[in-house]
Amino acid sequence: MSRIPAPRLAAPTALALALSALVVLAAACSDGHASRTATPPFKVSATIQEIMANIIDPAADETWESVSEEWDKDGHREHKPETDEQWLAVLNHAVALQESADLLTIPGRAVAPPGKNLEDSGVAGILDAAGVEAAIKIDPEAYAAFIAAYHEAAHELVVAAQNRDVESLKLGGARLDAVCEACHARFWYPDAQKAPTR
Ligand code: HEC
Repeated sequence: MSRIPAPRLAAPTALALALSALVVLAAACSDGHASRTATPPFKVSATIQEIMANIIDPAADETWESVSEEWDKDGHREHKPETDEQWLAVLNHAVALQESADLLTIPGRAVAPPGKNLEDSGVAGILDAAGVEAAIKIDPEAYAAFIAAYHEAAHELVVAAQNRDVESLKLGGARLDAVCEACHARFWYPDAQKAPTR
């Protein structure tokens, strides 16, 4: 007799405990979500200039050079990736290019470190860092559209490297080059007679 009430009491108590634990968890989750939306967990360290000079430019150069032609004293030479190692190198650079689209998208990134000039910023038609910052602020949608086009071209290179497809690598490389140039012409040297020397 005395053993019967015990389970009856225990069952609702356990259920109530489980439910209240769920309520506490749900509250914690929605709290966490709200604070994530308010403060993105990004640690923005590098400037746009550093992402260009230290990530995008070297990775793009390696990718373009991986499918290139050369004329020297020994005649005409054609380069294309052949070994596993060479294809892996192309893939590594293509993934870095692709993912740097998101690095450019993260808000709050300065154009250049304080006091550091942009290349050729003294030349007429070529913006300084404040000018680039203002150009992006005036038309963030256009800037985002260039980043999207850049991502698409870089993604083509990733797929080309995964499929070891030399023709697609060439086409993706040409497309990437055009996007780099178009974004620079719009946001870096809008009124220049010719592109800065790199
Ligand atoms: C969404 C726009 C955008 C795209 C796409 C873009 N860039 Fe840039 N890039 C800029 C801006 C703005 C600057 C000027 C400010 C600066 O120097 O960072 C710049 C500057 C540079 C610089 C000069 C960095 C320095 O030392 O001052 C290099 C090199 C460069 N880009 C390479 C590239 C290459 C290569 C690509 C394509 C693979 C590319 N960029 C794609 C916006 C872009």
